[in-house]
Amino acid sequence: MTTPNAYHLGEMQDAQGEQARLGTQLKATGTAELMALQEAGLTQARRLAELGCGPSMATGLLAAWAPDAVITSVDYDSDTLTQSQHRRDVLGTRSVTVCADVQALPMEDGQFDAAYLRFVLQHVPNPVAALKEALRVVQPGGLVAALDGDNLAMVMFPRPACLDALLALSDAEHTRRGGDRSIGRKLPTHLASAGVGAVTARPVVATSGELGAGTFRTLFLDPLLRDVPLETDRARFCAELDRWQDTPGAFGLMVGVLAWGRKSVTQ
Ligand SMILES: C[S@@+](CC[C@H](N)C(=O)[O-])C[C@H]1O[C@@H](n2cnc3c(N)ncnc32)[C@H](O)[C@@H]1O
Repeated sequence: MTTPNAYHLGEMQDAQGEQARLGTQLKATGTAELMALQEAGLTQARRLAELGCGPSMATGLLAAWAPDAVITSVDYDSDTLTQSQHRRDVLGTRSVTVCADVQALPMEDGQFDAAYLRFVLQHVPNPVAALKEALRVVQPGGLVAALDGDNLAMVMFPRPACLDALLALSDAEHTRRGGDRSIGRKLPTHLASAGVGAVTARPVVATSGELGAGTFRTLFLDPLLRDVPLETDRARFCAELDRWQDTPGAFGLMVGVLAWGRKSVTQ
């Protein structure tokens, strides 16, 4: 696949740590995510496309949330799909995998009741193209939903002196690789641009209050450190984040956005 690649699990120094992080992220977002997905109607789906499934940390939960669904899990990273096999094995005939770029899906039109893109679009060079593909493969009246974070909306107190530099460097590097670290706020616009109708959005918020400062940092700040090109900057930022984490009462708040809409019945 020649697509610029803002996220490749296999190329990460600590791929196992990243898998664990995705699992923790799932726990952090779970309750608010489920409420929004119920409101969106994804839990009623019988044919669900999970686009950019990664190591399938979320597939089992999606299967529980949409108990009648056969889940087609798509990712362009074949190693990740292989690694996640054991998680999908328990779903038996309810799980299908496809190795493909979400910007050019190999499926025919109208195959699914719903398509869900979870923490994927921030890594995709053309998120509107991916959403158009999601819209194409759902049936008329079908659901397209996306959840993603918005780093620029991160709140930390006390505010580490490095935070602005860390966010700026991470943003620049991620953009260079074809991604967008503050895509959360743009999801409703991207959905509308892709032709999705009746767009709705809900916040999915995680704080150090329920996670603890250490887990908050692991989930939302350590991935940004990976984007910092200079080792000396990384070490300095890391030391500042260590100090923040050890400050009694340190507080962090991260905002994600879950946005969805439907394909017109005449499309
Ligand atoms: C942060 S992981 C999220 C995985 C999973 N959705 C979750 O919530 O745990 C992003 C995933 O999107 C995949 N991805 C990124 N760009 C993609 C593209 N253009 N087509 C297909 N998959 C893509 C990556 O390979 C990776 O597995």
